[in-house]
Amino acid sequence: MISLLAPRGLRPAWIGITAIAAAAILTLFFLYSPRLQTTTSRVVVPDPANHIVTDPSYVDNNTTTKNVSPVVSDASLTNRLAQYFIDYPLHPPYKEHFGELGQRSQVLRDWLTLADHSPESTGKNLLLNATERVAVSLYPFLEKPKGQNATDKPVSDLRASFEPGSAGVVIPTSNNTLRFAAHLVGTMRSVLNSTLPIQIVYAGDEDLSPDDRTRLSRIVESGPPLEFLDILTVFDDSTLQLQTGGWAIKAFAALGSHFERVILADADAVFFQPPEVLLDHEAFVRTGALLFHDRLLWKNVFPERNEWYRSQIRQPSAALDKSLVWTEDYAEEGDSGLVVLDKSRTDILVALFHICWQNSYDVREEVTYKITYGDKETWWLGLELTGATYEFSGHYGGIVGWEQVDSRGRHKPE
Ligand SMILES: *[C@@H]1O[C@H](CO)[C@@H](O)[C@H](O)[C@H]1NC(C)=O
Ligand SMILES: *[C@@H]1O[C@H](CO)[C@@H](O)[C@H](O)[C@H]1NC(C)=O
Ligand SMILES: *[C@@H]1O[C@H](CO)[C@@H](O)[C@H](O)[C@H]1NC(C)=O
Ligand SMILES: *[C@@H]1O[C@H](CO)[C@@H](O)[C@H](O)[C@H]1NC(C)=O
Ligand SMILES: *[C@@H]1O[C@H](CO)[C@@H](O)[C@H](O)[C@H]1NC(C)=O
Ligand SMILES: *[C@@H]1O[C@H](CO)[C@@H](O)[C@H](O)[C@H]1NC(C)=O
Repeated sequence: MISLLAPRGLRPAWIGITAIAAAAILTLFFLYSPRLQTTTSRVVVPDPANHIVTDPSYVDNNTTTKNVSPVVSDASLTNRLAQYFIDYPLHPPYKEHFGELGQRSQVLRDWLTLADHSPESTGKNLLLNATERVAVSLYPFLEKPKGQNATDKPVSDLRASFEPGSAGVVIPTSNNTLRFAAHLVGTMRSVLNSTLPIQIVYAGDEDLSPDDRTRLSRIVESGPPLEFLDILTVFDDSTLQLQTGGWAIKAFAALGSHFERVILADADAVFFQPPEVLLDHEAFVRTGALLFHDRLLWKNVFPERNEWYRSQIRQPSAALDKSLVWTEDYAEEGDSGLVVLDKSRTDILVALFHICWQNSYDVREEVTYKITYGDKETWWLGLELTGATYEFSGHYGGIVGWEQVDSRGRHKPE
């Protein structure tokens, strides 16, 4: 709060707050209007009692027009809001715009939800048109990679690529974690007897060569064959740099996968039960997003982190009240070795756009990977800021292993 009042921060903060307020008011207007009208505004006859009438020949000979408010159609409201978001894009420093982007994304989510439930095509098209234009302006990576046919409806195309009712395990890996990925695939299929499809996601042949892909495929002895997805064929990499982005690929792997329900697992995750149990987990069924905590560490050690969360999260959800990072200023909330998301839900899908944005090149270099460690906190933060529902597994993480290790990671007796 103090930084908001500092002279240097005054102007941007004021503009941001005004923008949020304007967006909120317009959204309310839109949401509570009874149904979608696509008619243009009616001509409003000025009320001589309240307006300065400059035309001396004007005679009001229709008494029923008295006291009629101007009629604004939902169509013009939608287009005005879309144009506002497009004309005033969010610039660096991104650190100050996490919350604002979340608010804008909630409007996007409401448009998508309304479009999905709109019975008539004019209103539906109007909402989808606004959605596509705003989505690309907020999230430029949604555009097709260069060299592929551009389309003016990347959100619809992406949603259409999700197979209705499908679920699967998504494992991003490069050649560097091949060994772990092989262990994970082998455990799931040959030890736990899982039959869920598995998709391996990588960023170009340099990241995971054709030979290494063949090696992984051979591990599968039963169930559906391993699938592969080169993420560079799905998103425009110019604002992402995923080939050298390390953890950043994970969010995009979850978004780009054709599975509707995604179990995203790090290559070095170890399962003791078949991954199928996650899909029936009541928290996942209830909210569409199941997350796992990190270890509970460093109370009051990184106060700037907690202050930053508070500066961006203005309307904390009930889920956040259970967070000891939020309520007691611990440092690490989420781990992302395992994340389960249902992309058929518009709130989760739009949250995933925000999570991906946090992992895009400029944002992760400026904020995400500086203030927090890697992608871990981006998951709950994106869900929280876009007003999506989510639930953490109840306990914070534990540790298995040796307290003292030698240079090769082996147990060193004290
Ligand atoms: C009012 O009625 C007169 C006579 O019928 C007409 O000439 C005039 O255009 C009307 N004014 C308006 C504002 O409709
Ligand atoms: C008077 O104005 C109302 C509202 O615009 C309109 O519905 C009505 O037809 C008008 N009546 C006349 C006589 O022009
Ligand atoms: C949205 O509507 C405008 C104006 O009708 C049109 O030019 C544009 O192609 C449409 N865009 C999408 C994504 O439908
Ligand atoms: C682009 O579109 C053309 C014509 O529809 C098609 O022949 C071509 O295969 C498409 N290219 C890609 C990369 O999708
Ligand atoms: C993975 O590939 C890169 C680039 O080809 C290479 O430098 C690296 O040594 C490889 N790592 C492993 C573990 O094979
Ligand atoms: C997996 O299948 C094998 C062979 O049928 C069986 O021996 C093993 O007990 C199964 N594992 C589990 C966890 O059900």
